[in-house]
Amino acid sequence: MIITIDGPAGAGKSTVAREIARRLGYLYLDTGALYRALTWAALQQNLPVEKPEAEAPLAELATHIRLELAPVRVLVDDRDVTAEIRAPEVSRRVSYVARFPAVRAALLSLQKRIGAGGHVVAEGRDIGTMVFPQAALKIFLVASTTNRAQRRAQDLAKAGYQVDLTSLEQEIRQRDYLDMSRTIAPLTKAADAIEIDTDQLTAVQVIDRILQLIPTSAWRSAKIQ
Ligand code: DC
Repeated sequence: MIITIDGPAGAGKSTVAREIARRLGYLYLDTGALYRALTWAALQQNLPVEKPEAEAPLAELATHIRLELAPVRVLVDDRDVTAEIRAPEVSRRVSYVARFPAVRAALLSLQKRIGAGGHVVAEGRDIGTMVFPQAALKIFLVASTTNRAQRRAQDLAKAGYQVDLTSLEQEIRQRDYLDMSRTIAPLTKAADAIEIDTDQLTAVQVIDRILQLIPTSAWRSAKIQ
């Protein structure tokens, strides 16, 4: 059983996916964290990630560094980068890194390997369309740009970053554009995904709605909490 939760930045995927994984006793796979960790590693090496010539070194880097998603921690070659990968300079550049086909190919096989055992709740942009198209339940979360920017601002404030709401909205629009317009695996709803607009819902309400959609067969194998 695989559950996929896709959608644009700030639609509430992480909160919801993490809680559903916890309730089912499933593995939580945050695929954005992999793209972010690679972006962080590239910035350490001063790679000009917005430029086309960065594709080959980025793909090379993706296959040589060890990206690890430990429970609640993200490691690059054993270094804990959990906080660093959420920094604004990574957020601003990660969608450029994610546009390169060679980068996506390298991270696709890693994601498939992590999910090979099943019992996974995976979140991202192309999980229902590309990574796990065979998933039993596919969710696509949407929300207005204003709400998404407000949620991101709250998350960033908790992590100690002060950000201006207008520039955050602009950045979210730019990321949406980059994520939706790329040639490989753009952000798009899978034909068999269920769309949930989170604008008028609390996280608990979204979680409840998704839990109701989970087939009974999955609950039988789940560690119900
Ligand atoms: O969910 P997030 O904000 O942590 O994702 C960071 C970026 O990674 C996002 O702007 C696009 C990219 N991404 C992707 O292209 N495909 C995924 N499956 C997950 C994330």
